[in-house]
Amino acid sequence: MPQVRQGVAARTRKTTPIAAVKRAVPKASHARGEPRSVFSGHVVVVTGGVQGIGEGIALHLASSGATIAIIDVDSTKGLETERRLSRQGLAVKFWQCDLNDPEAISATVDAIWRKEGRIDVLVNNAAAHGPRLSLLEYSVRDWESVLRTNLTGTFWLTREIARRMIAHRIAGSIVNILAIQSEVPIAGYGPYVASKGGLEALTRAAAVELSAHNIRANGVMLGAIYSGSTRGAGPVDSASASDFEKVPPTLDRAVPNLVGRMGRPSDVARAVAFLASPESSYLTGSVVVVDGGRLLNRGTDPFSPPPADRPRGHGGGIER
Ligand SMILES: NC(=O)c1ccc[n+]([C@@H]2O[C@H](COP(=O)([O-])OP(=O)(O)OC[C@H]3O[C@@H](n4cnc5c(N)ncnc54)[C@H](O)[C@@H]3O)[C@@H](O)[C@H]2O)c1
Repeated sequence: MPQVRQGVAARTRKTTPIAAVKRAVPKASHARGEPRSVFSGHVVVVTGGVQGIGEGIALHLASSGATIAIIDVDSTKGLETERRLSRQGLAVKFWQCDLNDPEAISATVDAIWRKEGRIDVLVNNAAAHGPRLSLLEYSVRDWESVLRTNLTGTFWLTREIARRMIAHRIAGSIVNILAIQSEVPIAGYGPYVASKGGLEALTRAAAVELSAHNIRANGVMLGAIYSGSTRGAGPVDSASASDFEKVPPTLDRAVPNLVGRMGRPSDVARAVAFLASPESSYLTGSVVVVDGGRLLNRGTDPFSPPPADRPRGHGGGIER
C-alpha cells in the first residue's frame, strides 16, 4: 500500500475547527454581496489544483464554503498553494498523488475519505501535455504517459470516488475539464488531443452509468485560458491563480475569439461551480464550452501558427 503524503502544512497547522472555517467563509462572500453558498458542508476534490486553472477552481469553490482536497503530483507547489489559500481562511488541503499510479490513487481517496468523511464533487482538471512532436515522431512510451495521466488515471480516480459516493448514497457531481483542441487540434499534441476527446466520451459514459445512483457527470470544454501552460514561460513557480487573472493586453488582443479576450481561471471556476452545484441538477452528460466563442470563430490560431513552408495536402490516391 503506497504511503499517502498529506501536505505538511495541513498536518502541522494549528487546527482551526472546521465549523469555524465554514462559518467564516460565507461571511466573506456576503461581504462581497454574493448569495449564500451552496457548498457549505461539501467536500470537493480538485486534481491539478496546485496552480493555474485548478487553483482558480479550488479558490472559487472554497470561497463558496466548500472543503477542498487538492490532488497533484507536485508537492512543492502543493504545499505553497495550501498555505496561500489557508492563509485566506479557506479549508484547503493538499494530497500528493501521481495519477499514473492506480494504487496511490486508491490510497489517497481512502485517506481523504477518512479525514473528511465524504466527497461530494470531483473536478478532474489535472493533465499532462507531453512533448510537442509530430504524430510521426511520437514514441509509444510518451503517448502512453499522456494517456495514462489524462484518461486512465482520471478514470481510476472517478471509479474510486464514485464507488464510495454510491456506498454512502451521496448525490455527487463529476466535472471533467476538456479542451477545444479535441475539436480543433493543435499540431504536435496528438496524445493530449486524443486524451481530451476520450475524456469527453468518458464523461458521457459516466453520465449514463452513474445516473441511476444520483451522480451527474458533465464537462467544461476550455479555449485559451491564461495559466502557466499558456503563458509560455515554462514552469511558473510563484504565480498564483490571482496572478493569472491579470492577462497582458497584448495576449488579450491576440486571441481570435468572439469575446475578444483570453479566459481567466475565474471564468472556468464559475462554470465548474455551476455544474458542481444543484443549480445544474437537470444537466448530466453535457459539455459547457468556455472559449469566448473561439469554436465559432475558426481561423489561424496565433498560439499555433502553421509553419510557412508546410507542404500542402492533396486528396489520398490522387497522383501528384
Ligand atoms: N490553459 C488553457 O488554455 C487550457 C485550454 C484547454 C484545456 N485546458 C485544460 O485545463 C486544465 C488545467 O490546465 P492548466 O493550464 O492550468 O495546466 P497546468 O499544466 O498549469 O496544470 C496541470 C496540473 O496537473 C498536474 N498533473 C500533471 N500530471 C499529473 C499527474 N500524473 N498526477 C497528478 N497531477 C498531475 C500538474 O502538476 C499541474 O499542477 C487541464 O486539464 C488542461 O488540459 C487548459
